[in-house]
Amino acid sequence: MKGQAIEHASRDEITALQLGRMRWSLRHAYDNVPFYKSTFDTAGVHPDTLKSLDDLAKFPLTTKENLRANYPFGMFAVPQEQLVRVHASSGTTGKPTVVGYTQNDIEMWSDVVARSIRAAGGRQGDMVHVAYGYGLFTGGLGAHYGAERLGCTVIPMSGGSSEKQIQLIEDFKPKIIMVTPSYMLALADTFEQAGIDPRSTSLKIGIHGAEPWTDEMRREIEAKFDIDAVDIYGLSEVIGPGVGQESIETKDGPHLWEDHFYPEIINPESGEVMEDGEEGELVFTSLTKEAFPIIRYRTRDLTRLLPGTAFSMRRMARIRGRSDDMVIIRGVNVFPTQIEDIICTDNRLAPHYFCEVRRGGRMDTLTVVTEAAAGSADEATRMAAAKDLRHHIKSLVGVSAVVDVRGPGGVPRSEGKAKRVYDLR
Ligand code: DLL
Repeated sequence: MKGQAIEHASRDEITALQLGRMRWSLRHAYDNVPFYKSTFDTAGVHPDTLKSLDDLAKFPLTTKENLRANYPFGMFAVPQEQLVRVHASSGTTGKPTVVGYTQNDIEMWSDVVARSIRAAGGRQGDMVHVAYGYGLFTGGLGAHYGAERLGCTVIPMSGGSSEKQIQLIEDFKPKIIMVTPSYMLALADTFEQAGIDPRSTSLKIGIHGAEPWTDEMRREIEAKFDIDAVDIYGLSEVIGPGVGQESIETKDGPHLWEDHFYPEIINPESGEVMEDGEEGELVFTSLTKEAFPIIRYRTRDLTRLLPGTAFSMRRMARIRGRSDDMVIIRGVNVFPTQIEDIICTDNRLAPHYFCEVRRGGRMDTLTVVTEAAAGSADEATRMAAAKDLRHHIKSLVGVSAVVDVRGPGGVPRSEGKAKRVYDLR
């Protein structure tokens, strides 16, 4: 790489590296995970089938259901003694998905998170407040190891205990906070309730992810805290946080760390690979993971692949939503992020919301619950804001919704990933 960091390598160098690593990863999965041996054999492919990166499309896709069916350790490619850690993603129904790491996997993960924090503007010596949850969730420990790897001072706060969070931020004066965007907004409230202007804190950079959020939400966070807010992407099945990171210079969507995680976009219905620039479901193949190699994993996240800008690695557009979060109301596909966009542009409304879907007779009904901003809590303003919100949802999203604008504090706050949709059908 001529002394250059890999994130700046030429596309040819990246492709060559990916091809060599992909061959290794397919072979490793095939030889050590019975599930992959069986699905490759059934599909009539073999690790040697891969002559170029495009040949990956011949290999079978892997789903969350496949992982669940192999609960807890059936997808691991190394004996348990070689695992130094496991994490699990909660999953709303049924068994959690368990993922495992060798020491080398933890090193690689720490490296990509360190690279992410650097791309977000963090530097050695900075103090980083980690408010992602510690535990089975990958957010807390993933952020923690990466920040240490970069040479930062870490405050391992974890999620929740909002008063304690703001006290530590006031007293320790971190420059960076790593937290979900929804919990960041809840912390703004806690500061305000304590009579502290969130713009007055030491924070300069927010590294937010683990849930979909919009550019409108970014503006809201940046204005409330007077910081730069950037997007970090990841999922447990692929490694955890740090699969991709947005640059603080360009703020144009996360760059995917393609030297370790190979992205594809597929048509969610047909499974066909789509061109860069087209929207579909993001699929990942791990290139270097030892304990839990993952081949063509369907994330259910809907986005597009875009050319690199700040780095030569490709970017993804901000995630429009998860296919699981999409609700179909009377034939119209609705993503919570569309509603979020509208709520965040109205300064009479606070950026807190959730959607409820109910079956009422033959028609499904969508209720959007949000709340008035502090200065707009009077009945008349709330009614007017509700009327406008209903109108904008109808004209921009294409569905009629019932809108409930509650008083300030009326929407329960998240301490981690916000739940945006309650489907009561
Ligand atoms: O949420 C890992 C993570 C932790 C990422 C902290 C970023 C920061 P899971 O719990 O497995 O892992 O959930 C992964 O969360 O498939 C997306 O649907 C969603 N998600 C994660 N980051 C973003 C983001 C972690 N930046 C699932 N934008 C993913 C939108 C995101 N959605």
